Amino acid sequence: MTSIAVVVGDGIGQEVIPVAQDVLSLLHPEYEFYPVEIGYGKWKKTGVACTPDDIVLLRDADAIIFGAVTTPPAADYRSVVLEIRKELDLYANLRPIKGDGVDIMIVRENTEGLYSGIEWQEDDRASTLRVITRKGSERIARAACRIARERGNHLTIGNKANVIKSDAFFRDICIKTAEEEGVPYTTAFIDALTLDVLMHPERYDVIVTTNIFGDILSDAAAYLVGGLGMLPSANIGDSHALFEPVHGSAPDIAGKGIANPVAAIRSAAMLLSHLGDIPGATLIEEAIRLTAEAGITTPDTGGKATTKEAGAAVIDALLRI
Ligand code: NAI
Ligand code: MG
Repeated sequence: MTSIAVVVGDGIGQEVIPVAQDVLSLLHPEYEFYPVEIGYGKWKKTGVACTPDDIVLLRDADAIIFGAVTTPPAADYRSVVLEIRKELDLYANLRPIKGDGVDIMIVRENTEGLYSGIEWQEDDRASTLRVITRKGSERIARAACRIARERGNHLTIGNKANVIKSDAFFRDICIKTAEEEGVPYTTAFIDALTLDVLMHPERYDVIVTTNIFGDILSDAAAYLVGGLGMLPSANIGDSHALFEPVHGSAPDIAGKGIANPVAAIRSAAMLLSHLGDIPGATLIEEAIRLTAEAGITTPDTGGKATTKEAGAAVIDALLRI
């Protein structure tokens, strides 16, 4: 029995994840879904955003579908999603940017770097330790090389080695790994690279980079394919996998029923690929394409549909294909 942990989380996560779950259960009625309550809403109710028992429930699943969690800007509140990525050692964050003339896979290191969580505050100074390890760099470089090879294409190593020593360390490990793996590569400074990805997306295939750079690059690259409502992601480790839209809980539109469910539905497609159902994932992408072609999209992408209407249209398309 395949079991899927469902974390709707906060804000629009509660609106888009049920749609993704409907799509999954349509294609796989045999899947067992179980909810895990995690997030800021839970923290407000109970004082804890994610308990050790919740982590056990996540570990027990064959895969996790995750909405988004709100992180309030309070000094003593740490992002739950960062904690989960660390606890389950989900070291590779895969963010495909796919659309007209664009097919890029951003491979973001997901457990260290500037999101190491090693930080402290003094009276007149706040510091965060940016930790880049050999093990962390090697395994993300290997994952990126494997993907580049599967796609029959090349690797771009995004970095800021000209200024940051820890990035020179990361870049050099990626270069060595690409050479060992026989994957063609180039290196690029992340600031110029971000602009070039927007201007010449056709030049890029797989881009590997450190945690925060991958986070920023993927949100910027969302511009190429219709915005944050379109981008899915996979967080993969050696033993666990979590699938979530790239976007957050979007408090500005939460509760209005207008969030774009496509990022969440695409995350469900990535979940299926991961569990070996590649035809199912392809079907979902095709259904999303047909729905967009029919003009049934939410306001962020120029349409008038609600989340539920857009979701129902994708399900309809799946039933028709
Ligand atoms: P956000 O991604 O939630 O929203 C940015 C902008 O994009 C907003 O204007 C929002 O309305 C729009 N947007 C996002 N997703 C959309 C969708 N599916 N359909 C239509 N419009 C969409 O990022 P923001 O505002 O920086 O963060 C809000 C909260 O989410 C914060 O508490 C933040 O910490 C959290 N967050 C959580 C993440 C996670 O759980 N993985 C990731 C990013 C942010
Ligand atoms: Mg982000």
